[in-house]
Amino acid sequence: MHINPHLFMLARPPYLVVWNYKDHTQYELDPQHSRRLLQLIEHPKAYRPLDEIDDNFINSNILTTSKTPDTEWGWDELSKIFHIGTKNIPCAHRPNDAHEWSRQYLDHCNEVLATPAPIARRGTWPASELIALPAPNDTQGHTLVNTLLHRKTSRTFSGDALSLTDLGTLLYFSLGHLKERECEAASPHGLGARRSSPSGGGLNACEGFIYVRNVNDLAPGLYCYHSAEHALSLVNPLPEDPLGQLLCGQHFINELPLGLFISARFDALWWKYAHSRAYRMAYVEAGHISQTFQLIATALGLSTWLTGALMDDRIETLLGLQRSTEQVLFFVGCGRGDGQALSKELQALIDIEDLR
Ligand SMILES: Cc1cc2nc3c(=O)[nH]c(=O)nc-3n(C[C@H](O)[C@H](O)[C@H](O)COP(=O)(O)O)c2cc1C
Repeated sequence: MHINPHLFMLARPPYLVVWNYKDHTQYELDPQHSRRLLQLIEHPKAYRPLDEIDDNFINSNILTTSKTPDTEWGWDELSKIFHIGTKNIPCAHRPNDAHEWSRQYLDHCNEVLATPAPIARRGTWPASELIALPAPNDTQGHTLVNTLLHRKTSRTFSGDALSLTDLGTLLYFSLGHLKERECEAASPHGLGARRSSPSGGGLNACEGFIYVRNVNDLAPGLYCYHSAEHALSLVNPLPEDPLGQLLCGQHFINELPLGLFISARFDALWWKYAHSRAYRMAYVEAGHISQTFQLIATALGLSTWLTGALMDDRIETLLGLQRSTEQVLFFVGCGRGDGQALSKELQALIDIEDLR
């Protein structure tokens, strides 16, 4: 007898939950089953063919008669559990043609839309506290190809101020609900807002918080961006700790005048897609937004930098997202600088070593 290699256990009082992440099955074990499973993990050969509990383990594929080949992975267990656990998701009925897909999808949307949408914190912000942003400037004269060729990660920034119009341009084109696309017949009704980046299920589950250190006519602080209104609201003043402290010690970007924390509303994703696979989509969407932000900044003649190394708890506190279903995923910043890929401190060390 063999223990299935694709199991993990979860302590969910009063049960021990055994989760087969490959087959997408879960079992709640009572104390008797739990104790017996521990014995079998230690001695699989102790299996008793006529024992009811042992039989249950065989029937549930927790115990197998032949060895299940383990997946070659090459990474840690947590990433393996997550990735494999969200692969090949069960699909009750896979549509056979485009008509069937449309019917099924529309039914699904209508079913979702008939349930109350999770409340967006941004929607409850008092209008009197919104700070309107300037309309975006277009970045004519910058071809896409030229912008793509100039986008690069920079690690030295002067800290010089950016204009409020630059901020408006960056936010409208990366996260704003585009007025230019409002006339499109958006079906199903209720998922109609469109951004320049694609969005999983049209939910626009990703949102933005702005780190403002040096923008003309705007007090330094952490702001919430309201995509529909193209406006900001102040969440908190800047903390005493420099930005690098919030980004796992990457102090070389402390001078960044502006940054965007990209968050995702997991409640919104779960509302439409009640499967853990949707978690993957949050990061894919954040990646689209991050790249769009960088391309706009590049077209505005700014240097860009990005990171996923976040001091999550500290940032969540600063953004007022403690214990929230909205979580911060990524940071992208921009400013003026010489565009160097190496920070000046790292470059100095390398220069010294070269001299030796
Ligand atoms: C998901 C992701 C995470 C990254 N995290 C960091 C980071 O924490 N710190 C950093 O200095 N650069 C970070 N980078 C930037 C990469 O180091 C950079 O994109 C890479 O060296 C290629 O250089 P380029 O962007 O100039 O083409 C990250 C890039 C991506 C896509």
